[in-house]
Amino acid sequence: MIKRLKFFDEISLGNEVVSELRSLQSFNDNYKIIQSYNAPHIRDAAISIKKTFSNSDNGVLIKIQPQLSNLELRSLVWLLSCNIGKPIVQDESGTQIMYVYDRNRSNSIFNGARYHQTHQGGALHTDQGGVKHTKNVNDPEPIDFLVLGCIQQGLIGGETILVHADELYRELLKFPIVIDILKGQFFWELRGQSQNYYDGPILTIGNDGKPRFRYIRPYMESAYTRLGKKIKPLETWALDVLDSLLESSIIQNRILLNRGEILIFRNDRFVHGRTSFTDDWSDNPAVENNIDLLTNKRLFQRIWLSEK
Ligand SMILES: [Fe+2]
Repeated sequence: MIKRLKFFDEISLGNEVVSELRSLQSFNDNYKIIQSYNAPHIRDAAISIKKTFSNSDNGVLIKIQPQLSNLELRSLVWLLSCNIGKPIVQDESGTQIMYVYDRNRSNSIFNGARYHQTHQGGALHTDQGGVKHTKNVNDPEPIDFLVLGCIQQGLIGGETILVHADELYRELLKFPIVIDILKGQFFWELRGQSQNYYDGPILTIGNDGKPRFRYIRPYMESAYTRLGKKIKPLETWALDVLDSLLESSIIQNRILLNRGEILIFRNDRFVHGRTSFTDDWSDNPAVENNIDLLTNKRLFQRIWLSEK
């Protein structure tokens, strides 16, 4: 029996959405074209999702009743996203739809790969970036919402892990010195997006009194190495406290997403990650830009949104 995912509202999409989707021109990765399609049922679904976000900080877990093909699923994730917010560019080449899958079993976030290119788990984080189309790329575009759609499951593993900012902050309050340190400035690299760096705190408290997090430790540590700077021992200890809390079962919520399930949540109010996964031995070699060939791989679709 799968338990309900804490802090998430469930929304089911039915036949009318799927019929509408099938009446549209096929999705062919020329995704900017279908953004403009008139799709009232999909728009209505997006409105009810946005209502959840305006009423609470909960995320949403979207389930789709009818079976969809991979292409249909990918179209739906994109169309829903475009009706909820404004897609943000995710890399130097201008990609707005990122596919999350293991490119190569030897890839590691600890030797320069981006998280979405590996099969590694752990390293709970918030997503970072969005390349701004201005000269000042030191200031990455904030990601308001993260959309994660499960297109295919892997052979084993790959549970999605979610930690709500309030529960993390509640545990951090037991360590006031850590809170002070996390509110200080840290350097970050914009891995995969730019050679530049930016600085900012891990923890901020908004005008509404709510804690918000920015955290992706491997990108911080490599920024310090590249800059020739050192993270102070007390700061390292504070980061270790944070990591230990993030790995605690007391505050972790986990879900093994099924094919066709989509999570949408506020990036700075949920620290997220996954458990390690392994694809079938017979998985096809990773072929960039040919998602249709990845038939035996865990495949997620990721979109970053700014609020419209
Ligand atoms: Fe992520």
